[in-house]
Amino acid sequence: MPGPTLSLEAALNDMEARARARIEAAGGPEELEPVRVEVLGRKGALAQISRQMGQLAPEERGRIGKLLNAVKEGLEAALEARKASFDEQALAARLDAEWVDLTLPAPGPRSGSLHPITQIQTEIEDLFTSMGFAVLGGPEVETEYHNFDALNIPADHPARDMQDTFWLTDGNLLRTHTSPVQVRGMQRLGPPLRMIAPGRLFRNEEVDASHEHTFYQVEGMIVDREVSVAHLIYFMKSLLSHVFRREVTVRLRPGYFPFVEPGFELDIHCLICGGSGCPVCKQSGWVEQVGCGLVHPNVLRMSRIDPEEWNGFAFGLGLTRLAMMRYGIDDIRLLQSGDLRFLKQF
Ligand code: DAH
Repeated sequence: MPGPTLSLEAALNDMEARARARIEAAGGPEELEPVRVEVLGRKGALAQISRQMGQLAPEERGRIGKLLNAVKEGLEAALEARKASFDEQALAARLDAEWVDLTLPAPGPRSGSLHPITQIQTEIEDLFTSMGFAVLGGPEVETEYHNFDALNIPADHPARDMQDTFWLTDGNLLRTHTSPVQVRGMQRLGPPLRMIAPGRLFRNEEVDASHEHTFYQVEGMIVDREVSVAHLIYFMKSLLSHVFRREVTVRLRPGYFPFVEPGFELDIHCLICGGSGCPVCKQSGWVEQVGCGLVHPNVLRMSRIDPEEWNGFAFGLGLTRLAMMRYGIDDIRLLQSGDLRFLKQF
């Protein structure tokens, strides 16, 4: 009875050959599981073939049974081996991706940079020290006297409202300008004097692209004999052309500040928009850059300097605005954002 024996054996061999071909052709471990289920599973091809063994002659049953077992073990081993080769490939790919050349030199510490305001402040300090000015500092928490009274801004004066003040509960305040350092300078150094005072100040402002509650100025002052507006203009021009490293268009307007007489506002042509109008210049094409003037006799007198013998000029320069102009920064909030993407550009 060779028929059933031969056809079962042929079916077994055929099934094995096709299973091995599928295992070989599998593109990834996920393609092996269906082969296993279809061939070795409880309802798989091998199970079906073994169910037909009942038809065989008893002497053939043993031989085909052994063959069946051999095919089963062979396919199990082939599946296992193929899976192992996929694992190996995955590991090799991972090691390849993580490969590090230990002989390469280390990248070294990344160097930081100075904040744009610090950079300009340092340049201005260098320029003015080269012209014989002292660089002074003063407290950010100031007395009402230094911030207002000694600058000829009495308690009932409307000019107090020009700057929205952060008052502290003890009666002191966060300085609203760097001008109180003029007072400290006059009292500490006496005449003649040349000083600048860069620093931070605070105003109770609503914050937007051109307003901050915290920003920077440089105060400057000369007290000497026969100081004139011509001197003032000379220093302002030197300062601005030094910072911008080119001629900048400026205009001088009369301006009111209680601590100078006459007082001026010096505007600079907006370098961000070139004068056509942008948020920084509030669409005017000009940016107010410096308040300045000849020191008011009352201010000298209050710091025990005789205005009959001495006079001087003073200026307050918007350092924050200057930085924005020089670097083309169109939003003041970036300067204190601490955002490294912004800071790394300087
Ligand atoms: N302190 C003024 C302000 O913050 C700026 C200023 C104007 C300073 C005129 C001066 C000056 O020294 O003479 O608005």
